[in-house]
Amino acid sequence: MKNLTLPLFPMPQAVDFFSEEHRLIVHLGDTYDFLKALPNNTAMLIITSPPYNIGKEYETKTNIQSYLNQQEAVIDELVRVLRNDGSLCWQVGNFVENSEVFPLDIFYYDIFKKRGLKLRNRLIWHFGHGLHASKRFSGRYETILWFTKTEDYIFNLDSVRVPAKYPGKRHFKGPHRGTPSGNPLGKNPSDIWAVVAEEWEKELWDIPNVKANHPEKTVHPCQFPIELVERCVLALTSEDDWILDPYCGVGSALIAGLKHNRRVVGCDKEPSYIQIAKERISNFYSGTLRIRPLGKPVYVATGREKVSKVPDEWKKR
Ligand SMILES: C[S@@+](CC[C@H](N)C(=O)[O-])C[C@H]1O[C@@H](n2cnc3c(N)ncnc32)[C@H](O)[C@@H]1O
Repeated sequence: MKNLTLPLFPMPQAVDFFSEEHRLIVHLGDTYDFLKALPNNTAMLIITSPPYNIGKEYETKTNIQSYLNQQEAVIDELVRVLRNDGSLCWQVGNFVENSEVFPLDIFYYDIFKKRGLKLRNRLIWHFGHGLHASKRFSGRYETILWFTKTEDYIFNLDSVRVPAKYPGKRHFKGPHRGTPSGNPLGKNPSDIWAVVAEEWEKELWDIPNVKANHPEKTVHPCQFPIELVERCVLALTSEDDWILDPYCGVGSALIAGLKHNRRVVGCDKEPSYIQIAKERISNFYSGTLRIRPLGKPVYVATGREKVSKVPDEWKKR
């Protein structure tokens, strides 16, 4: 089997209640109730993809205002639990009603700003495939709002640098003329992340001869790629820090944190997702969980794949 990642650290004991003495907390229940039991100023990183109110199997669609009102109560708790030097990464897409698009990050921005959080990046998570719209341009990105609670925050750029396109570039004038102009550790990954693109989408799932199954996919309809979270974990936290995913689904953020020896806490209300999260965590520690490696280049079609060819029926005779 490919893409197996061997853990560098032993599996901590999993408990379902918050406790400073433990490193792995997975709670089944409503997130608002759970957050109430967490101490102030604890999480160095809160990273999540909340329900978008778009009628997925785990949510009941309501109007945008009542959805946001419910979320505000949760966000009050999250801001309380976030450390003063911590970061919050909020990954969202669009809410759509009567064909009108409501970009959720625009609505959420004000909610966080009102609570004093400071935006550091609006990251674009770009995917190459998805549903094909017929009355507007097809959506091919979602966003991650990265906020900090104060000016005093961690940003470990060196741990997430990516290879430079032209590492051989040199200064062509000035006192450093002739010396390499880049950074030997690579370049800043920028605010556009083309993580997993093609491999992730459902539509490719069923097509033979294309890289079919993403190694991490479970039954969850909108799961995080682990590497997306890993980049935030490495850049925004240090070993042993607490990472919280209040809507943890099948545990992708928890695995990303555990992989890098952070303490993790997650909550989800769906028993089946929590069960899968626990299984994935245990598979990670037994070395049997397939994880797409961080920074692996996105698959680029060669043109030779069956699905890259123009169908015979479309060719002019
Ligand atoms: C977008 S998904 C997150 C998926 C997750 N990032 C992963 O990689 O699996 C949102 C999750 O929120 C959970 N959820 C929705 N409302 C909740 C609530 N009130 N309390 C706890 N979990 C909730 C859903 O069950 C769903 O798994």
